[in-house]
Amino acid sequence: MRPERSTVSAGDAAAHYPTHASSHDARVAGYYSRRAHRRHAFCADGFQTKLTGVVLAPVSAFQYRDSVLHAEDIALPQLAAAHNTPLYVYSRRTLTESWERFARLFKGTPHQVCYAVKANGTLAILQVLAKLGAGFDIVSGGELARVLRAGGDPHKIVFSGVGKRRDELEQALAAGVGCFNVESAAELDRLNELALARKQQAPVALRVNPDVDADTHPHIATGHSGAKFGIELSKAEALAMQASQLPGIQLEGVACHIGSQITAVEPFREAARRLTDLAARLQTRGLALKHLDFGGGFPVRYQQNESLPEVATLLNELHALAEARSLIMRIAPGRAVVAPAGLLLTRVEYLKITAQRRFAIVDVGMTELIRPALYDAWHEIREVQSRKDATAELCDVVGPVCESADFLGRGRRLAAQPGDLLAIMDTGAYGASMASNYNARPRVAEVLVDGARATVIRRRETLDDLMAHEILP
Ligand SMILES: Cc1ncc(COP(=O)(O)O)c(C=O)c1O
Repeated sequence: MRPERSTVSAGDAAAHYPTHASSHDARVAGYYSRRAHRRHAFCADGFQTKLTGVVLAPVSAFQYRDSVLHAEDIALPQLAAAHNTPLYVYSRRTLTESWERFARLFKGTPHQVCYAVKANGTLAILQVLAKLGAGFDIVSGGELARVLRAGGDPHKIVFSGVGKRRDELEQALAAGVGCFNVESAAELDRLNELALARKQQAPVALRVNPDVDADTHPHIATGHSGAKFGIELSKAEALAMQASQLPGIQLEGVACHIGSQITAVEPFREAARRLTDLAARLQTRGLALKHLDFGGGFPVRYQQNESLPEVATLLNELHALAEARSLIMRIAPGRAVVAPAGLLLTRVEYLKITAQRRFAIVDVGMTELIRPALYDAWHEIREVQSRKDATAELCDVVGPVCESADFLGRGRRLAAQPGDLLAIMDTGAYGASMASNYNARPRVAEVLVDGARATVIRRRETLDDLMAHEILP
């Protein structure tokens, strides 16, 4: 963090402490210019087929039947009538298939897939995955409690995160989590001390920052120099040797995670090469490592024509790298497991036509789905039932929240009229888990569909829920 008071002049400070703003701004500008170029590239004839690879996406359970969008065997209007809108709708079948695509890839060879809970930590979602044998990647004591409540196996939990508090480390030691992915020398010391106090040895992997540009939105890039995440690669070897001498630490592996929604294969490869080289050096120096954790970040096809790496091929490469060092490959996908399994069902409240734009104002906003506002993310917005009596027109789909950043999609061709239902697709990840109560908006209900049955897995918050923890003096 930037020191609040300084004895050096502003000029000196800038020389010694490059301002974050300038390098961050450059990253943002670079990202948008590359993204614009990629979009352009898709449109060029022939290029699309060359770039587009096979992603690990399941067949969606959200399909039209008789022109009405369904979740498995239930028509979405039926769900809206029973549970009202806004509503998160998940498909158990898609979730299961999505998980199994990862899990099945390496069947028969040692590997560990730890679902990243931050993508969606709703208990019933975790329970489905726990029953399928998933491991879990967590970043807080809250996520640990959720996984345990949902029936997750503590030995299959990896505790990641840059700022683990003492009480959270103690909670995880008491639960017997499978691995702590440690992100700094200070955290290593703290963990050693706490483990010794409990007469335990904490299983540890060092999360390194491989200094690779993930070429994703700067807010979700984590593996470049200057990021707060991980241990600098140049310091990792020495720290690992120190860790191996600490009596409360059992050093078992090295880890990295370079960001989310990474749409190019090379950053993954480069990070993996650097991590594997580090592991090899440590093995040469006599450390008996067990695993290599390549993190998550595997992309989701949010747009039909999006160019994405072939995830299965990439995972095979990563697996081979680990196997060549006699190490177990660990990965921590979040988004790729849950995003395609969820949609956000919303209703058009108003149409507003101004001199410049046409707005469809819906009953969800950045409080329910912050990704468009936060990352300029694109989600497909579908009409649940197509209209014959209105022509589709370009409009901005916006929410009711009092922020100009509050939009769900811009320039979408829709015929929807007030009262019509829309489905915001691929919102199973970083949707409900990033929701807030801003503007005193109760959190929405979530349902899990399994064939023709829909179960409420989170009830809609009431106004009393909103104020339940507040005290009037
Ligand atoms: C350490 C770690 N692992 C895994 C993930 C999951 O990433 P994704 O959802 O993109 O797969 C994240 C996401 O931020 C993370 O920080």
